[in-house]
Amino acid sequence: MRAVFFKGKDQPLVIQQIKKFKPVKDQVLIRLHNAALNHRDLWTWREQTLPGSEGIILGSDGSGIIEDVGEEADTLLIGSEVIINPSLDWGSNSVVQGNTFRILGFPDNGTFSDYIVISKKYVFEKPEHLNFAESAAVPLSGLTAYRALFSKARLRSKEKVLITGVGGGAALWVLQFAVAYHGRVYVTSGSDEKLIKAKALGAIAGFNYKDTEWQQKAVKESGGGFDIIIDSAGGDQFSKLIELALPGGRIVNFGRTAGNITNISTRLLYWKQLSIHGTTMGTRDEFLSMLDFVENRKIKPVVDQIFPLEKIEDAVKRMEQGDQFGKIILQIS
Ligand SMILES: NC(=O)c1ccc[n+]([C@@H]2O[C@H](COP(=O)([O-])OP(=O)(O)OC[C@H]3O[C@@H](n4cnc5c(N)ncnc54)[C@H](OP(=O)(O)O)[C@@H]3O)[C@@H](O)[C@H]2O)c1
Repeated sequence: MRAVFFKGKDQPLVIQQIKKFKPVKDQVLIRLHNAALNHRDLWTWREQTLPGSEGIILGSDGSGIIEDVGEEADTLLIGSEVIINPSLDWGSNSVVQGNTFRILGFPDNGTFSDYIVISKKYVFEKPEHLNFAESAAVPLSGLTAYRALFSKARLRSKEKVLITGVGGGAALWVLQFAVAYHGRVYVTSGSDEKLIKAKALGAIAGFNYKDTEWQQKAVKESGGGFDIIIDSAGGDQFSKLIELALPGGRIVNFGRTAGNITNISTRLLYWKQLSIHGTTMGTRDEFLSMLDFVENRKIKPVVDQIFPLEKIEDAVKRMEQGDQFGKIILQIS
């Protein structure tokens, strides 16, 4: 079987032939059809160091068919079309993950591979209305977006929601969930073309964050500001989000694409009685609720481009350049 190995910070990703995995105990062996990229794969490649030289198989998202099972898993599972919940060992507290929490794909071997073995507790039926490529786009970013919007920001219909950097995989899920829940959605992007695409998906208006006057335009278009702001960029522009939040507003951040936040106005924070939430991934219950939401409303993820597994470096480069609108998918079989 083929697998994409991360061998160390900034070293080329290597596709290697390795011995096919064998499931043990409650594990299932999944023949992967598709995997999806997340910014996390890029962070891992660019930032992480490895303890040994063997390498780690990257990838948090995958879809495929169960081909074999360990002795504690039912053989009836064989042949099931499935997706994987990459939120491993969350722990018992829904508020925050426990000490053993991990995200599939580092340090555990992930989905950029012909096969994966994983405990059956992380495996769920593929949504019926989605093909394998679309299904691979669901788990990590869908889960993160769901927890951010519903568990943390507690969206109510008709509320005004601003989503930053809408071209990203996770941000687009927030857009689709918020539109489906009848939020009034506004977006930012560094690309006018992506703003047009976001409007086609239901955004009321969009603002280019490279335009020095985008904040004033956002105040005007939204009639004063936003109840909820979902941000995955951080960085210096975060201070603008504090200004754009309505009194009593909720801001949720789950990413650092634009770096650390160094310049928050403390006075605005307390005077407007704002709530700022950090969030990461989500619980098993949230994963199930997210799947229900996607299935009941027949939501289809936005797929940017599909690359064959061998073209992994081209796929990662597309993400690094920020050219994508939606999920970048790998075709495995
Ligand atoms: N904590 C978690 O559990 C979790 C889960 C998922 C993702 N994340 C984090 O969330 C971020 C997005 O992840 P992803 O997988 O969706 O990545 P992605 O598909 O690569 O999206 C990144 C997006 O960031 C936007 N961006 C870049 N610079 C920006 C800026 N200065 N201001 C606003 N937006 C900017 C871009 O949007 P435009 O192209 O529209 O400009 C780009 O599309 C990453 O930092 C990732 O690590 C965290």
